[in-house]
Amino acid sequence: MSAGPLPIVRTVAELRAVVSSWRRMGQTVALIPTMGYLHDGHLALVRRGRELADRTVATVFVNPTQFGPTEDLARYPRDEAGDAAKLAGAGCDVLFAPSSAEMYPPGFATSIAVAGVSQGLCGASRPLMFGGVALVVTKLLLQALPDIAVFGEKDYQQLQVIRRFVRDLDIPVRIESGRTEREPDGLALSSRNSYLTAAERAVAPSLNRELVQAAGLLADGSREAGPVLDLVRANLLAVGFASVDYVELRSADTLASLERVSGPARLLAAAWLGKTRLIDNCPVASES
Ligand code: PAF
Repeated sequence: MSAGPLPIVRTVAELRAVVSSWRRMGQTVALIPTMGYLHDGHLALVRRGRELADRTVATVFVNPTQFGPTEDLARYPRDEAGDAAKLAGAGCDVLFAPSSAEMYPPGFATSIAVAGVSQGLCGASRPLMFGGVALVVTKLLLQALPDIAVFGEKDYQQLQVIRRFVRDLDIPVRIESGRTEREPDGLALSSRNSYLTAAERAVAPSLNRELVQAAGLLADGSREAGPVLDLVRANLLAVGFASVDYVELRSADTLASLERVSGPARLLAAAWLGKTRLIDNCPVASES
């Protein structure tokens, strides 16, 4: 698709003016929040937004409140011009790219905590992450007031956290998800894949391979999960992962721990390859 330059707005006032002009024409709006350095996974979410609504707004904001002090905020990859070109190509209508001062002006003092689904998994090793995600996504939803917001299943726990607080806070938006987009060898697309060395990149697809194999073993509910998950951890370390944060079998909806599959379930994992933390997840057959 050929496309002209994408309009970029940087203030909440400008964003609201654009969305209001669409509303006056009776058009519906989908929001696609991102932290930029966009790949085909993000663009698939934009395309999903376009299927579901008349207009799409993508946001690019590397949200400082969801990073811990030793995490990769400073080196998180950024390429606004490239992102704008890709969004224009995907048919997005406008990019909202606010500054940190626009999102968190001096005196900002509010936090949001989501219990239950935020705990464990990524919440254990990244204790600030989901509070920060809940805060920024709540702000983006209230700033844009879209009909629909689209998030990727790659960040599966994040998706469940967002569904939870949107329900709890009565935010009038429909949350939609997009499937994880993958490289041909199975590696989930992620902006953080750009950190991988060539040797690490060769090992990285093992994360998805191990999860898919384990899902096959666990699908009919005849096996206890523990030994299968232990095997996944051991195999990841054997192929070159430096450490494994978690490999777990959880209920697909509540993220409650499961000892064996007895209904909709997900396998979720996070592991370190050198200095890069990769996450992935896969449905266990009885989910669908
Ligand atoms: O998934 C992401 O890119 C971010 O966590 C999000 C949802 C845009 C909030 O900063």
